[in-house]
Amino acid sequence: MCGIIGYTGNKNALPILIDGLEKLEYRGYDSAGVAVVSGGKIRFKKRKGRIDVLKDSVRSDNLTGTCGIGHTRWATHGEPSDQNSHPHLSLDQRIALVHNGIIENYAKLKDQLKRLGHRFLSDTDTEVLVHLIDHHYSGDMIAAVNQALLEAEGSYAICVLDQNSPDRIICAKKDSPLIIGEGNGEMFIASDIPALLPYTRKVYFLEDGETAIVEKSGAQIFDRYGKRIFRKAYTVDWDISAAEKAGYPHFMLKEIHEGAPALKRTIFPRLKSGRIVFPDLDIKELLCSAQKIFIIACGTAYHAGLTAKYTWEREFKIPIEVDLASEFRYRDPYLSKNTLVILLSQSGETADTLASLRHAKAAGAKTLAITNVVGSSLARLADNVIFTLAGPEISVAASKSYLTQVICLALMLISSSFTGQKLTDAVNFLTALPDLAQLVIKEQDQIKKLAHLYHSKKDIYFIGRGIDHAIALEGALKLKELSYIHADAYAAGELKHGPIALIEDSSLVIALATYPQLFDKIAGNIMETRTRGAKTWVITTKSGYKRFADMSDHITVIEDAPDWAIPILAVIPMQYFAYYACIERGFDVDKPRNLAKSVTVE
Ligand code: AGP
Repeated sequence: MCGIIGYTGNKNALPILIDGLEKLEYRGYDSAGVAVVSGGKIRFKKRKGRIDVLKDSVRSDNLTGTCGIGHTRWATHGEPSDQNSHPHLSLDQRIALVHNGIIENYAKLKDQLKRLGHRFLSDTDTEVLVHLIDHHYSGDMIAAVNQALLEAEGSYAICVLDQNSPDRIICAKKDSPLIIGEGNGEMFIASDIPALLPYTRKVYFLEDGETAIVEKSGAQIFDRYGKRIFRKAYTVDWDISAAEKAGYPHFMLKEIHEGAPALKRTIFPRLKSGRIVFPDLDIKELLCSAQKIFIIACGTAYHAGLTAKYTWEREFKIPIEVDLASEFRYRDPYLSKNTLVILLSQSGETADTLASLRHAKAAGAKTLAITNVVGSSLARLADNVIFTLAGPEISVAASKSYLTQVICLALMLISSSFTGQKLTDAVNFLTALPDLAQLVIKEQDQIKKLAHLYHSKKDIYFIGRGIDHAIALEGALKLKELSYIHADAYAAGELKHGPIALIEDSSLVIALATYPQLFDKIAGNIMETRTRGAKTWVITTKSGYKRFADMSDHITVIEDAPDWAIPILAVIPMQYFAYYACIERGFDVDKPRNLAKSVTVE
């Protein structure tokens, strides 16, 4: 995600642009930039780093003008740097553009434009768009923008400045949000409502495929066929602090809801004509040439990595070992040039994970980072990197990043070892998966009631077998870090080796039962707890419903899914449970006590 702002009116645009970017910084914060039309020219400034760095750098510049655009970046292509920041300009600096989204066919378009003599200054997908508009420009900028968008594939929300039209901003939207705000003799554009609220509450939401011409007198909106649309304004009734969370009460709830679009952003750009591709990475060679694979991470990322322990070994037929980063290097594991060490981290800055990376590299192992932050230390230091494209995750408790980490591991598995009908079936399921996740994301009411019923419990136990054990671990971590309830997860088969001594009358046991081959085993474990007085909440699949309905005090049913996808559907109810239990207990959802979003100390 990135943040876009635009202004055209009678005031100096710069302070409005900077203020808007500050309100949008939660959408991305690795670099920022602004451009204004001033004296018949486009003047711009863009800097790596937070908005404050940009503010310092514009102080000495005469960026005065009454029409301008701004951008705060969450990098997807091209690491954070001044050059890769937006806005991007045509070579003659007549056109400036800011973009939120991903131009999936940028490499092909870039080659074509280079052959036509275009010279690029950045590594981004976005810069291709402004050159494509320039290429199509022959006097009508709107026509040039429309033609360029016909050739670009992917998602976008863009604002375009043209030095020859000093008070006009051209916008377009597909898959990424863009909102137009109407003031009194002035107009605003933003990715999200927070940036508009200080100036207006009268807004127009652009829909996919639409473009708009925004001038200080007003906005004209056109559909994908160029037909003018007259849209009713929406009046915003949020306050600013709520609006930063897009109307959600907490970032955590917002980010759980962003799980489905995050999956879509992570999967779809890598689906190409029935196959899965990782550009610039021969993932099959990397995985299949290893004699042993370690997957190293902390916390939620470790739990995501653990899912691969249950899905990769049978396919690759090599040992897959998953370990905590804080343990890995101290047990002096055997590593060689034939070892692949995969490191998972949302932030890409976790000290233990970085230390494990350095240890692996020093031992001559190959390394691959899977992270959510472009330009993070992990991304820069690992030999190879795959980005999860979840977008900024603000809440300390990981939610959507777990989904995208699990699906990245699944994409690697499928692309390296599935063929024929098995590959076709997997690709079909991947295409449907964001919508299936969205269905689970909508089912909040039952979970809210369960949280109300059980939020005062001192102890809550999660059990599961096989991959369900890995999922149970994540459910327990979410609950303990948000609600401070003592929550533990056990391999269900271990219960009778000790933990079952903890079960007493009305203990709550949350059982994950999604793996058909182990239904009978987990059913036996559930019954063991019930005969000792436990209340049971079973999370199972449609094919498990009949098997578990009679042994559940509460049952949550998710779609049947292959084991490489089931953690994504099964974890969502437990994310909600932890969220609502925290609310019931009156704690700070987004900043739980004693925790930090990125643990940069060992
Ligand atoms: C998860 O909800 C926690 N915030 C924590 O366990 C986190 O997953 C862990 O610190 C690893 O962080 P990373 O993914 O940024 O490396």
